[in-house]
Amino acid sequence: MTTNGMAAGPGRPPHPVAEAAYVAIRRVGKSYGSLKGAVHALDGIDLDIRGGEFVSILGPSGCGKSTLLKCIAGLEKPTSGQIDIQGKPLNGPPDRLGMVFQRDVLLDWRTVLDNVLITAEFAHIPTASVRERALQLLWRFGLKGYEDRHPWELSGGMRQRAAICRALLCDPDLLLMDEPFGALDAMTRDDLNLELARIWQDTRKTVAFVTHGIAEAIFLSDRVVMMDRNPGRIIEVIDIDLPRPRHLAIRETSEFAHYVGHIRQLFTSLGLLKDG
Ligand SMILES: Nc1ncnc2c1ncn2[C@@H]1O[C@H](COP(=O)(O)OP(=O)(O)OP(=O)(O)O)[C@@H](O)[C@H]1O
Ligand SMILES: [Mg+2]
Repeated sequence: MTTNGMAAGPGRPPHPVAEAAYVAIRRVGKSYGSLKGAVHALDGIDLDIRGGEFVSILGPSGCGKSTLLKCIAGLEKPTSGQIDIQGKPLNGPPDRLGMVFQRDVLLDWRTVLDNVLITAEFAHIPTASVRERALQLLWRFGLKGYEDRHPWELSGGMRQRAAICRALLCDPDLLLMDEPFGALDAMTRDDLNLELARIWQDTRKTVAFVTHGIAEAIFLSDRVVMMDRNPGRIIEVIDIDLPRPRHLAIRETSEFAHYVGHIRQLFTSLGLLKDG
């Protein structure tokens, strides 16, 4: 039985997720100072993300999703509580981390390929040794022919795809993605959802994925974490017991619709979504 009371779907393969927590978040709070007083971006966040698990974080604007991701990345320090990565207290960005920021933060003076290769430079890995991998990633994400362009010559969606390649270059164990597909049209988004699902299926990285898209969260995830704001907090976590590998047609099934309905109902009851 799952946390939302649904039975596992028929034909579901053995659960791929290792039981040990890769990321353990304990009573984490984060406040920012502002001219109007403190902003309680996060309050009492308790969450384990298991090794090899794909977790989505879903919630309204301002509920602290980016803040939570930055805390896991060691880029923001929680005001209270603790985050452990593989059993060790987090103290700065963890090893083998890949991060896709909400804004793509590409360097405009570097080519697309050189933007991707920067990950190797930071890790003191010779860029020549990963150049082929960088090209393969760019091609896989539909950027063949754009390797030598500059970011300002690309569309917003293309820039974001380059940023995903940059995060994947050094084969991270922990991948943190902050609304990576938010700026994309629906068709490109579907393509990239499939590509990400394939990459996850092949590599079983531990992923925390922030999104506003209910269907996207369900399609990609083992679990969906739902948050509310003021203060930013977790209101429910549901297991997504749908078989893998998943194809887009799964979105037409009654099981999928059931999850969508459950999440919509929760956000509607909190006044975060309108019903009609
Ligand atoms: N550096 C900062 N200084 C002050 N307040 C901040 C800072 N970063 C975030 N906040 C505040 O913390 C709260 C949570 O912000 P955060 O960016 O984590 O939300 P979010 O859920 O990612 O929102 P969105 O969906 O719009 O990206 C907001 O009220 C925001 O104004
Ligand atoms: Mg955000």
